[in-house]
Amino acid sequence: MARKVQFVETVLRDANQSLIATRLPFEKFEPMLATIDKAGYYAAECWGGATFDVCLRYLNEDPWERLRKIRKAMPNTKLQMLLRGQNVLGYSHYPDDFVKLFVKKAVENGIDVIRIFDALNDVKNMKVAMETTVNSGAIASGTISYTTSPVHTQEKYVKMVKELKEMGASTICIKDMAGIMGPKEAYDLVSAIKDAVDLPIDLHTHSTTGLAFMTYLKAVEAGVDIIDTAISPFSGGTSQPATETMAYALRQLGYEVELDDSCTKAMADYFKTVRDAFIADGTLMPKALATDTQCLTYQVPGGMLSNLLSQLKQMNALDKFEEALAETPKVRADMGYPPLVTPTSQMVGVQAVRNVLDGQRYKTVSKEIKAYCRGEYGTTPAPIDPAIRESILAGESVVEGRYADTLAPVVEETRAKLGDMARCDEDVLSYIAFPNLAEKFFEDRKAKEENICTYSIVEA
Ligand code: CO
Repeated sequence: MARKVQFVETVLRDANQSLIATRLPFEKFEPMLATIDKAGYYAAECWGGATFDVCLRYLNEDPWERLRKIRKAMPNTKLQMLLRGQNVLGYSHYPDDFVKLFVKKAVENGIDVIRIFDALNDVKNMKVAMETTVNSGAIASGTISYTTSPVHTQEKYVKMVKELKEMGASTICIKDMAGIMGPKEAYDLVSAIKDAVDLPIDLHTHSTTGLAFMTYLKAVEAGVDIIDTAISPFSGGTSQPATETMAYALRQLGYEVELDDSCTKAMADYFKTVRDAFIADGTLMPKALATDTQCLTYQVPGGMLSNLLSQLKQMNALDKFEEALAETPKVRADMGYPPLVTPTSQMVGVQAVRNVLDGQRYKTVSKEIKAYCRGEYGTTPAPIDPAIRESILAGESVVEGRYADTLAPVVEETRAKLGDMARCDEDVLSYIAFPNLAEKFFEDRKAKEENICTYSIVEA
């Protein structure tokens, strides 16, 4: 019998994030939710990553309400989110009470699958999120942040997978955020993981370097169960390979693909118009759609590449793009070869830009890089360059063990502080994650309601 390969659709989250910096408002994809729901996906990735931040910061949307609306429109498809372990959605570590309540509320509001990763692959940063996901009745997808370096070996990845299974993972995800995994690496790693654990494996990659289609194909040959793809108008470049193309090729090779072609056709027709509008207003830049083999050297993930571009554009320094890209792997090596994924990708990227614009390395250092050097992000894959670490820390002490163990609970205190301003625990969580953005959002929400209210009285 033909082996089945399942698909995760990323247009609502990763494709949206990688190509247009997550600027897709709810009403732009709402008309397609029923169609996506009928298409036969394993899951729709729709939340987490930058969606939460951008909803509050730029779109004036309540991310929780967005999730509930998606849930309502898509009763038949598993909704998937991405969670940065102890970082949840932010850029630093949170106390356990926040992580637990966040996971619980995400599941209550509609999430079925939580893909949990840690930027350093330090599993002690994933444990609380994994356990809470399982206890809340959702699927915990234990995730490897894939990277290559002198210290990242297949044995280490297999060891990590076994630890994730111990923690309750029901699926394993290999997350190749930079699109640097080649077909042979995929074949070998998937085979090794299949040998080590009896769990479904999902491979996530990006088309950035052009390897993705080949990588997926060899991963499928090695037994991968699920692949992440984006509907064609939002595919390619820094996004995922096209859903329809993978379905076509896999069927031709005799694999079973349950996607409904009339649904994917309707989605493609619809999202083509959406994409064209983002091209017309300059949000979707041609560079994001191009194949860039430099990433095989620089290991810059999709989201990071577009962030780097917009950062330099804002500073009127687009001419420094190549230089900043070249500096990135050097900073990464100094920092002990962290995989480049949020938040380490931002930290390394911002530092590389600083080093280039300052004309002197580590002259200015962000507070995040400082915290990283103190050990607050966990154990680095290799030691941080001792001289650079020493100069950054300037005598400050270093954290031993799990940083979150040193953090005091935050939920109860925030609830009390916010009082009436927070209408539910979801508001409290938004506030803890993004205090300034959430506060502004609460004020705007109140003002909007008062305006509507006055208006209706006048009308009456
Ligand atoms: Co991704």
